Amino acid sequence: MLHFDQLPAAALAQRFGTPLYVYEEQTIRQAYRRLRAAFAFTDLRLHYAMKANANPWILRLLLEEGAHIDAVSAGEVHLALAAGCPAHRILYTQSAASDADMAFALQRGVLVNAESLSQLARLGSLAPGSRVCVRLNIYLGGGHHSHVITGGPDSKFGIDWEQWPQVQELLTAKGLRLVGLHCHIGSGIRDASLLAHAVSHLFHTARNFGPLEFLDFGGGLGVPYRDEEGPLDLAHFASLMEEKYRAFCQDTGTSPAIALEPGRFLVATAGNLLCRVTSVKQERKHLFVGTDTGFNHLVRPAFYGSFHRIDAVTPRPGELRPTVVTGNLCEGGDLFTRDEHGPLPRLLPPLQEGDLLVLREAGAYGFAMSSRYNSVPLPAEVLVDGNQAKLIRRRETLEDLLTTVPTALAPETL
Ligand code: LLP
Repeated sequence: MLHFDQLPAAALAQRFGTPLYVYEEQTIRQAYRRLRAAFAFTDLRLHYAMKANANPWILRLLLEEGAHIDAVSAGEVHLALAAGCPAHRILYTQSAASDADMAFALQRGVLVNAESLSQLARLGSLAPGSRVCVRLNIYLGGGHHSHVITGGPDSKFGIDWEQWPQVQELLTAKGLRLVGLHCHIGSGIRDASLLAHAVSHLFHTARNFGPLEFLDFGGGLGVPYRDEEGPLDLAHFASLMEEKYRAFCQDTGTSPAIALEPGRFLVATAGNLLCRVTSVKQERKHLFVGTDTGFNHLVRPAFYGSFHRIDAVTPRPGELRPTVVTGNLCEGGDLFTRDEHGPLPRLLPPLQEGDLLVLREAGAYGFAMSSRYNSVPLPAEVLVDGNQAKLIRRRETLEDLLTTVPTALAPETL
């Protein structure tokens, strides 16, 4: 019988219904503490990349642990502040930010991370003399899929590091005060030396600038999704980073704070999508097992061909069978056992309609990327701690699907 912390999965399904996102509070706290403890830096800022999971109750528990926040939209700034994060602990890294986006952050005292020369210039005009961080493209990229690579010639993010003289000029011309440099090369990286390589690049470029309050190396720290995948070697990453930091401090006579922006690392393994089997059919080629969820609730398999472990809550005895686990949406790609190209049957115990399944490692970019496609309301989210379950987002209702639609039209001639 499968449990989340001390609670049986079946009891959670019974009480809160399915599909249900279930998070283990202690797993999140432990991930944060493990990451913090891996580094010797006295001033280490772990900016939780809340795009991975923006539930305010999850933000609160990470803030309690001491996290800072990486926010990428006005909505994320709003949620972080609402969860009690002080403005000075938020770094605002919006892609293609408008003046309105920047004004929103500035008015709340949130530091803007500028990722283009034009954004820097506009920031200078909006808020002359303000503090600013600059995001560089250090021409290094990595990640579990091409969609999540954020550095290199094809990347839309950041200012080409070779343009540092133009950055300098703009800062001077606009009277802006550069307090930090930032890079982020991609997501889902379990190779410590690649991450450390990015660290070297940013330290190298930072030598062209004056004293900085902090250097932010972004997120991207991967976690294993498959049994055969090894974890990121944190100790190795930390030692490489510390070595480069010591050299930087010695050469420049400065000792900036170090920032990282972990999203996946902190929440992926803590989260699970609990769902129910609603259909079992043996077709000519495949055994299809349909569920009461779909890529509207967990898009990673359909979007990236990502692998998520699938466990039966109460495995039935019998031979494992090659099974294609599907969602309930009207699209052929709505499969949970697939790669980028199509179905990939997985060996699972016999399943019957009514059985419960768990899609594992779904805490990061799970609910956060969910949608109301096919007009299916969003699932509920529950946080489990010991033998206690807390509903941290109620299940949407059919009525919720109509909340933003006026009941009568008020035509306007413009
Ligand atoms: N910092 C910046 C500037 C980012 O763009 C991201 C992720 C992070 C930090 C956090 O990266 P992490 O530590 O979570 O790898 N939806 C994709 C992942 C997209 C990541 C986007 N940016 C997925 O489901 O794999």
